[in-house]
Amino acid sequence: MLIALGVTGGIGAYKAVEVARGLQKRGHDVVAVMTHSATRFVGAVTFEAITRRHVITDQFEMGMNADIEHIALASTIDLLLIAPATANIIAKLAHGIADDFLSTLYTATRAPLLLAPAMNTQMLEHEAVRANLNTLAARGARFVDPGEGYLACGWIGKGRLAEPDEIVAAAEAILRPEGPLRGQRVLVTAGPTYEDVDPVRFIGNRSSGRMGYAIAAEAARRGAEVTLVTGPTTIEAPAVRQIVKVRSAAQMHEAVMSRAGDMQVVVMAAAVADYSPAARAEQKVAKDGDTLTLLLRKTPDILGELGQRRVAKGGGPLLVGFAAETEDVVAHAMAKRERKHADLIVANDVSRSDAGFDVDSNAVTIVGAEGADALPLQSKSRVASEILTRVERLLTARAVKV
Ligand code: PMT
Repeated sequence: MLIALGVTGGIGAYKAVEVARGLQKRGHDVVAVMTHSATRFVGAVTFEAITRRHVITDQFEMGMNADIEHIALASTIDLLLIAPATANIIAKLAHGIADDFLSTLYTATRAPLLLAPAMNTQMLEHEAVRANLNTLAARGARFVDPGEGYLACGWIGKGRLAEPDEIVAAAEAILRPEGPLRGQRVLVTAGPTYEDVDPVRFIGNRSSGRMGYAIAAEAARRGAEVTLVTGPTTIEAPAVRQIVKVRSAAQMHEAVMSRAGDMQVVVMAAAVADYSPAARAEQKVAKDGDTLTLLLRKTPDILGELGQRRVAKGGGPLLVGFAAETEDVVAHAMAKRERKHADLIVANDVSRSDAGFDVDSNAVTIVGAEGADALPLQSKSRVASEILTRVERLLTARAVKV
């Protein structure tokens, strides 16, 4: 795999040489991209000797724009790894500043980002730096946390660049995920459904798709073959094996039930309408009276049907359902897990303004056979990771049982 190794101006830059060597030992091709301040700590020639490739230090050096180098590189790398990642580069990436080759490369690539922050303890704990790290985490960036110990500035505390082996292992985990989800077929539903009233009007809900898309993206990052069944959304689709676009609950029901039998895992994050107009008017319903009565009929309960099918067959995909609750969240989720024969129910309190529908964060309680696990408010990408780590544990337990 081709890895762009970004090196920025911190004392840990000398360790980046070992990172480059470690990645190469594992068969990866490394292109070093150094900021100007990084070259104050380690010479570009060192990386040139190790990577046997031209080291990029300046966006505007002659020959760099022959084929718009940063665009060419951006579309070919499999991972952007920045080690050390200073507070400065973290701020630039978080805010989309592109004033040097490395920050421009970040905005031009769709490759996963892995950051190994390194700085003084006080800086690492500063709210500005924490906010920038959270922004990048919400976009799906992965991190190798700094170590504790003696810092270059003479302090003792957290902030040392992680060890090269740790950084290399984290890169490998992204590029060659060996976890239980690798190669597994996973179906994820996301977004709302729209239930048409007439050619103009429909009944929908506030689901943006962010939660389901984050799960689909994370499952793909862990090596799964992901099918994403999505209602109408406006957010960018994750890079997954197949995307099936649906509109109504009936269409989502068909899309899921016709595929679920071939899956190892099904995650129902979509906000599927519970009711739909009993009859869709062929023409726009006139605005005659002061009131309008709509007769709604229950929609097929997809999660419920999946659970019943599994019971009837004595086996089937691992089932993860969601629960959008506004009160007694855990109690409702526990009851729902039993009722639907699901393995996990992810309950979110959708009455909160910072969780649930159409926000980047979520506060969930994951309910399984062992009980309820209440997680703190965090980005949906981190919630997705928490959910899938539990799914991996269940897959491992199943494999052992078999
Ligand atoms: O998309 P976002 O903006 O990121 O918002 C995320 C979310 C709030 C939509 C998500 O976290 C969430 O809670 N999704 C489930 C919403 C929902 O429909 O919850 P529910 O309690 O009504 O449904 C329970 C479960 O049954 C869900 O897994 C749902 O997908 C499923 N269901 C519901 C109705 C139906 N007819 N068939 C189903 O399978």
